[in-house]
Amino acid sequence: MTVQRFLTGITTSGEPHLGNYVGAIRPAIAASLAPNVESFYFLADYHALIKIDDPARIQRSTLEIAASFLACGLDPQRVRFYRQSDVPEIAELTWLLTCVTSKGLLNRAHAYKAAVDKNHAAGMDPDADVNAGLFMYPVLMTADILMFNAHKVPVGRDQVQHVEMARDIAQRFNHLYGEHFVLPQAVIEESVATLPGLDGRKMSKSYDNSIPLFAPRAQLQKLIAGIVTDSRAPGEPKETEGSALFQIYQAFASNAESAALAQAYGDGISWADAKQALFERIDREIAPLRENYQALISDPARIEVILLEGAAKARAIAAPFTARLRHAVGLRQLSALATPAKTVKAAKSERAAFKQYRERDGKFYFKLVDVRGRVLLQSTGFAAPKEAAQAISDLSARGTAARTEWAASLVSPADVEEADITQALQLLSSPIL
Ligand code: TRP
Repeated sequence: MTVQRFLTGITTSGEPHLGNYVGAIRPAIAASLAPNVESFYFLADYHALIKIDDPARIQRSTLEIAASFLACGLDPQRVRFYRQSDVPEIAELTWLLTCVTSKGLLNRAHAYKAAVDKNHAAGMDPDADVNAGLFMYPVLMTADILMFNAHKVPVGRDQVQHVEMARDIAQRFNHLYGEHFVLPQAVIEESVATLPGLDGRKMSKSYDNSIPLFAPRAQLQKLIAGIVTDSRAPGEPKETEGSALFQIYQAFASNAESAALAQAYGDGISWADAKQALFERIDREIAPLRENYQALISDPARIEVILLEGAAKARAIAAPFTARLRHAVGLRQLSALATPAKTVKAAKSERAAFKQYRERDGKFYFKLVDVRGRVLLQSTGFAAPKEAAQAISDLSARGTAARTEWAASLVSPADVEEADITQALQLLSSPIL
């Protein structure tokens, strides 16, 4: 069996909470123990800068998250465990990828769209308080993933779109510059995809509804007591469906334990007793890890050494790979200059092309065919060959802008993605480098 690379990051923007544990840390560590797996886990501190402008908080969070992974059993000998910003090649790759990413793709990213929608609802300028980092977030995340050619990316459901964007961007880059990148796949732990927080919404630092992973016992108990429930009295049967408490329990319990609690819900367990059961179940798993954590967090210098060792291992891959990518896009030493004629030919052969033909109905047609022979656009019939030629030259010169004008004469096959057409047209209409 071939080795599968798993990679995931946690943004260093706050204290790790149970949602991070269930959704990222625990599955990541479990996956790292499987045979034929190579794991890359990192602290996404470049990402943290997007929403945090408090340097001390970023530093503190980096320490806490690193200590959490280690406390939960991550073995830094077995896994490449590093801090994103210790691998500056990631920032460089972000730029290379930025230049093959269509702005429209980023417009559709949930995190950016949510910020814009919120401004809209508040009657503000759509981009008020939106920094360009938030807009570029998916590209930075793509660089994290593609740098190490990860096959699998364990993430929460909210991040799946970003992994899909990473695939799109990888495909686009491969298409332009050759097969450099593996197309990554998101992996979601189905049963625990997103852990609800105290208020029933997704547990998240930004909703202020989270339970710190290593809260002391008393605080853990107190926070669990604050989970929202409905107002059913003891003795009244309760619904597991939509119960945040039940969902959190499930994330820690075996199937048999969950079934038993479901039974207790049906039998009218009081919310107080259900909360106690949840507290005990979580604490049973977390208590031993909490001790490890306390020991680690009190020795930041040791953690720093571990992270720097991890970064050295990561850069051993990232540095030579980045050198290859720089060469692929044309950031090259002049001494290796190819003859111009050759360059033009190579670039041309990587582009989609128009094919013109006449049908039995006597009309003139054309289609846009990509390098693999797939039809991207099909014209309707033109009475004169000159008209068809005019459309082709217009599309070749002005790409997507001309497409709108010729829309009435163009059909795209149902299975072809808009993004592919746009890309092909953009490429056709851009000068050959
Ligand atoms: N954006 C992710 C989150 O907030 C963290 C992250 C950054 C990440 N880069 C990544 C996750 C690469 C997986 C792969 O959860």
